[in-house]
Amino acid sequence: MNRKYRKTIIAGNWKMNKLPSELKTFSEALKALVPRAKWCEVAVCVPAVMIPGAVRAFKDGKVCVGAQDISAAEFGAFTGECSGAQLADAGAKYVIVGHSERRQNHGETNELINAKVKTALANKLIPIVCVGESLEQREMGVTLEVVTLQIKTILSDITAEQVKKLIIAYEPIWAIGTGKTATAEQAGAVCTAIRALIRGMYGARIARSVTIQYGGSMNGKNAAELLAQPDIDGGLVGGASLDPAEFAKIIMAAQELEE
Ligand code: PGA
Repeated sequence: MNRKYRKTIIAGNWKMNKLPSELKTFSEALKALVPRAKWCEVAVCVPAVMIPGAVRAFKDGKVCVGAQDISAAEFGAFTGECSGAQLADAGAKYVIVGHSERRQNHGETNELINAKVKTALANKLIPIVCVGESLEQREMGVTLEVVTLQIKTILSDITAEQVKKLIIAYEPIWAIGTGKTATAEQAGAVCTAIRALIRGMYGARIARSVTIQYGGSMNGKNAAELLAQPDIDGGLVGGASLDPAEFAKIIMAAQELEE
């Protein structure tokens, strides 16, 4: 983390878990666990149907609400999709774009993700752009090539001013939901390489200001070590964000490093 230049952001990704009726209990539990003065930037990315309820449940806390996907289209005949305007109007501030589960289960390509990032920015949503390699790619030693291609395609036609507004989440696919975390050094090295790539594309000033999160089995135990890496500015947290106590530990680990 480097608090001087960029924000630390801890974002939960609830995936397809929890019910709208469970929001209030969760928000109250989280609030009780994190001392009031101690909040860093925190978001919870919920299923679209839960966005309005989450905005209500978290309204007096410091937690912002995010969505987990966005349509690349503006409006119209796209059954089952949600537009950027709808997500923003419902109260979302963030939106996860290009999560590996969407790539794997819904065939999302880097080109489609590029279109989604543009739609998110046009609607003043902050995209959390996910990149990361598979186990096979890591074992073949092509992690940086894969991540570079993902980022170059996803950021094509994105201006420097726009890049400053988005978040990049480095999520090695083999670490997601598996309990296998990348070591802090492995994760930190890829995040440093991502920042170097952004520096090459947009210059040092922009690269310094972009928040880069790590995601993949982050939890209350490993968060501090991961977040202590100079180029890891937060976490995109799946499983551990479903439990208020575990999520609070991650938030506090980030906050303690910030102080
Ligand atoms: P995990 O998920 O923390 O459960 O590994 C992270 C993610 O998919 O964003």
